[in-house]
Amino acid sequence: MTSSTIFPKVMLWLFLALVSTVSIVNCSRDGSGVPYANDSTVQAHLEARSSLIATEKEQRQDHAFRSSLSPTAQQAERIVAAIRQDEIDNYWRRPAPLGQQDTERFAGMMFPQAKPFIPSTELWKIVQRLPKGSLLHAHSTALVSVDIIIDSLLTTEGIVISASQSLTSEISSLNASISFTHVNTTAPTSSPSLYSTDYVPSSFVPITVAADTHPGGRAAFISHLKSKMALTPEESLRHDLGVDAIWRKFQSCFGPIGAALNYEPIIRTYWQSLFESLVDDGVSWVELRSGGSSATLIPEGQAVADPDLDFWWEVMLDEIEKFKATERGQSFWGVRVIWSDIRAWNRTVLTNTMQIAIQRKLNYPDLFSGYDLVAQEDLGRPLSDLAPELIWFQEQVQAHNVSLPFFFHAGETLGDGNSTDSNLFDAILFDTRRIGHGFSLYKHPKLIEKVIEQRIMVEVCPISNEVLRLATDVLHHPIPAMIAHGVATAISNDDPSIMGQDEPGLSFDFYQAIQAYDNLGLGGLGALAENSVRWSNFEDQTQVEWVHDIDMGVNGSGTKARRMKEWNQKWEDFCQWVVEEYGTRYNVS
Ligand SMILES: *[C@@H]1O[C@H](CO)[C@@H](O)[C@H](O)[C@H]1NC(C)=O
Ligand SMILES: *[C@@H]1O[C@H](CO)[C@@H](O)[C@H](O)[C@H]1NC(C)=O
Ligand SMILES: *[C@@H]1O[C@H](CO)[C@@H](O)[C@H](O)[C@H]1NC(C)=O
Ligand SMILES: *[C@@H]1O[C@H](CO)[C@@H](O)[C@H](O)[C@H]1NC(C)=O
Ligand SMILES: *[C@@H]1O[C@H](CO)[C@@H](O)[C@H](O)[C@H]1NC(C)=O
Ligand SMILES: *[C@@H]1O[C@H](CO)[C@@H](O)[C@H](O)[C@H]1NC(C)=O
Ligand SMILES: *[C@@H]1O[C@H](CO)[C@@H](O)[C@H](O)[C@H]1NC(C)=O
Ligand SMILES: [Zn+2]
Repeated sequence: MTSSTIFPKVMLWLFLALVSTVSIVNCSRDGSGVPYANDSTVQAHLEARSSLIATEKEQRQDHAFRSSLSPTAQQAERIVAAIRQDEIDNYWRRPAPLGQQDTERFAGMMFPQAKPFIPSTELWKIVQRLPKGSLLHAHSTALVSVDIIIDSLLTTEGIVISASQSLTSEISSLNASISFTHVNTTAPTSSPSLYSTDYVPSSFVPITVAADTHPGGRAAFISHLKSKMALTPEESLRHDLGVDAIWRKFQSCFGPIGAALNYEPIIRTYWQSLFESLVDDGVSWVELRSGGSSATLIPEGQAVADPDLDFWWEVMLDEIEKFKATERGQSFWGVRVIWSDIRAWNRTVLTNTMQIAIQRKLNYPDLFSGYDLVAQEDLGRPLSDLAPELIWFQEQVQAHNVSLPFFFHAGETLGDGNSTDSNLFDAILFDTRRIGHGFSLYKHPKLIEKVIEQRIMVEVCPISNEVLRLATDVLHHPIPAMIAHGVATAISNDDPSIMGQDEPGLSFDFYQAIQAYDNLGLGGLGALAENSVRWSNFEDQTQVEWVHDIDMGVNGSGTKARRMKEWNQKWEDFCQWVVEEYGTRYNVS
């Protein structure tokens, strides 16, 4: 043996002797010299760990909001964390017995499967009461439950239904497109039944006759209509079939819904139901994507649409005012519309509808707030291809001295580097004020920097992204990554009447978020709601004014600051309620 091999062994013996002496002295190691958690070496690691976690959290977009929570809000946050954990462990976690695997239940399961279990949780009751601020990403005709629309069709005089083919078999019922209209005189009840081979495709029959002569009875008729106007839970769950398949079904729902809402009394019922449900869910403001496809309307008692392109909006404004005059309407801030055209349209059609949009803006400057392009992004024209039309639109807007900034859907895709994913670059370069979905943003470090720098908020729709097969469930959604990187986000619901939430409010999407992510908590959920108010486009502003007011927040001097203060008061009241309601049952101070 050479001294060079003996020397390390000596060192090791010395080291072990030292360590065991130390552990005997302060009892923080066991007889073999393995440290207990209270040993200074372990303590040093844990302190470094806490400090690294805290440092990382400083980058979160909700950091400022959470660090300034009032003592009551902090207490409410601890209570809600305890309730959430209790329900994860004792309500959601239900392993299925062997042979009954469909009964497996766990926190974070797919939304259509979780939905029936959500309303009996305490967390749900809390989320329902939370003041949600603004609904910033929603399509105007896909909000109120189709049950309410169908009921309205069945109880309104003169409504008739047609199908593109007779409904004589399961496959023809599945394949047929259905439509509705209003007629002055009741169509002859002797006309061939929808369910006979004599039916003349696309001819109208009274809806009550079609309902009562359905081979399965009225209930089966209603469930058939429902399957044409909304996704079924089974369809939502079939992620194996991919994005294009679910989009085909999803888009087919807008035809019959649009036809149903094209009669004045029905759309009036729809608006009242929408505003009431929003207020009941704690939503104070809504910016609706709406546009060309829904521009004409059949006046009450008439059989043809009024060609006046303002009529649809007159009726909407009338219903907004009517609602604001009610007691429930007192706390409602209002509605604006982001004009939305179909992204697949060609240059001729698009420039025509852009002019229609600008004319509406001139007629109703307070109502119209921006411009967007909608329908399946993967199959539509990329923003780079639309650049000529979009630049022309901006020039027209400027020439008319109006404000119609962009609020683009972008990155609502699984793509990485293809044209849909790259829409994010165009949206940012076109100074979009918010991004609809931005699902693929997390793959773009440079764009993440840009959206933070340019104060662009992402309108995140967790349930929509799940149902349209971008994320299998809320746990696979990128929103926690966006928040952690410092990207401003708010929660929206997109098309809740088609996607299964089945009500216009935000509670289900809010519930999914707080239930899924430990890093969020009540404070994080509050920050998302506050963001929705901060990024609301309450009034026309230049880009400089817009950014200034976002930066000033509650300290600004305009409408935004006032409403943020109002929201803050509601938030404090809500936190107080949580403490009073649950403080003794969940003693966590
Ligand atoms: C450290 O923890 C061990 C095991 O829990 C305990 O026996 C010992 O008393 C503790 N030592 C000190 C200094 O607290
Ligand atoms: C489904 O509808 C389309 C369009 O109306 C039609 O061309 C096709 O023949 C129909 N298929 C079946 C199986 O009925
Ligand atoms: C429907 O009835 C209204 C009111 O009676 C009448 O003004 C209108 O001309 C009628 N329309 C049709 C298409 O018959
Ligand atoms: C644009 O689309 C419209 C409607 O689909 C169609 O009628 C028209 O021919 C198209 N124009 C061009 C130039 O392709
Ligand atoms: C453009 O509109 C703004 C505000 O709407 C107004 O203050 C300004 O005078 C208008 N400019 C012109 C050239 O009309
Ligand atoms: C981009 O990629 C995704 C994932 O493969 C795909 O679903 C989408 O259709 C693609 N978009 C285009 C325009 O090819
Ligand atoms: C508003 O002003 C208060 C008091 O000066 C300050 O603490 C807070 O950070 C400001 N908020 C914003 C959003 O600037
Ligand atoms: Zn959308």
